[in-house]
Amino acid sequence: MPKNDPTQLSARPAGIPLSIVTGSARGIGFAIAQRLVADGHQVYLLDVQDSVAEAARTLNAVGYAQVDVTDTSALREAIVGAADAAGRLDTLVNCAGTCGRESFEDLTEETWRRDIDTNLKATAFACQAAVFPHMKAQAFGRLINIASVSGKVGGVGPVDVDGSGGRSGAAYASAKAGTINLTRWIARQVGAWGITANTVAPGPIESPMAADASYPISEMPIPRLGQPFEVAGAVSYLAGDDSSYVTGTCMHVDGGMVRA
Ligand SMILES: NC(=O)c1ccc[n+]([C@@H]2O[C@H](COP(=O)([O-])OP(=O)(O)OC[C@H]3O[C@@H](n4cnc5c(N)ncnc54)[C@H](O)[C@@H]3O)[C@@H](O)[C@H]2O)c1
Repeated sequence: MPKNDPTQLSARPAGIPLSIVTGSARGIGFAIAQRLVADGHQVYLLDVQDSVAEAARTLNAVGYAQVDVTDTSALREAIVGAADAAGRLDTLVNCAGTCGRESFEDLTEETWRRDIDTNLKATAFACQAAVFPHMKAQAFGRLINIASVSGKVGGVGPVDVDGSGGRSGAAYASAKAGTINLTRWIARQVGAWGITANTVAPGPIESPMAADASYPISEMPIPRLGQPFEVAGAVSYLAGDDSSYVTGTCMHVDGGMVRA
């Protein structure tokens, strides 16, 4: 089969897959990395926190980088460097994220920039670094971007009537909505190159990010917080061979919170 024939099922290169997971020092990103290791991948961790080194040791990762994903050149260097070393790049999971919960009145440019850059800008440039050159050259790849149901419904949590905030903020909700459409855009671009691009939109998941948040759990079809491993299960499917004809989609892992 010609290497880049878009009319044929794209073939994963032989050997052990390489997956890069951003935001993997803790929380959902750590659980995703753990699941991909269990699935037989060599996993490369990327996070701004120095605890990424300990997380990499715990998971017996192939490597790690302590990088701020909003630093586009450092991000590109880490992704391309890890793929160069392995001679391949099968999966990129963009999971690094920040979430301001200020009221509309208290929203600042600083929070706006941080949440847009961490959640949306970094996702765009990480995907670019994964596709060019490695995924396109090998005619195979899986881009998986972690969005949020906040990007579907305009933020999650109580609407504040007294100005105290608490709902996932305007910048975060905008960034996650942007992530969903960015991923659709990328999916249309890269499909003929053997690459899929999908988002996973978690609902309320028990993690450090959600520790101080309040959610309408009792109103949900599954009335409990989700666990990081439950998001990791969706990522495992999208990174695996069973999802070969799935692209541009947004998979909710939210206990039924959003029934779009
Ligand atoms: N927990 C939830 O309820 C929930 C719901 C929906 C979506 N999400 C999304 O899931 C992802 C993971 O969230 P989590 O709950 O595990 O949060 P978390 O805060 O526990 O983990 C986020 C990780 O991203 C890293 N990170 C943050 N900014 C970074 C930067 N600039 N550069 C590199 N790394 C950076 C952090 O150091 C941390 O390790 C995020 O994208 C988040 O928006 C979480």
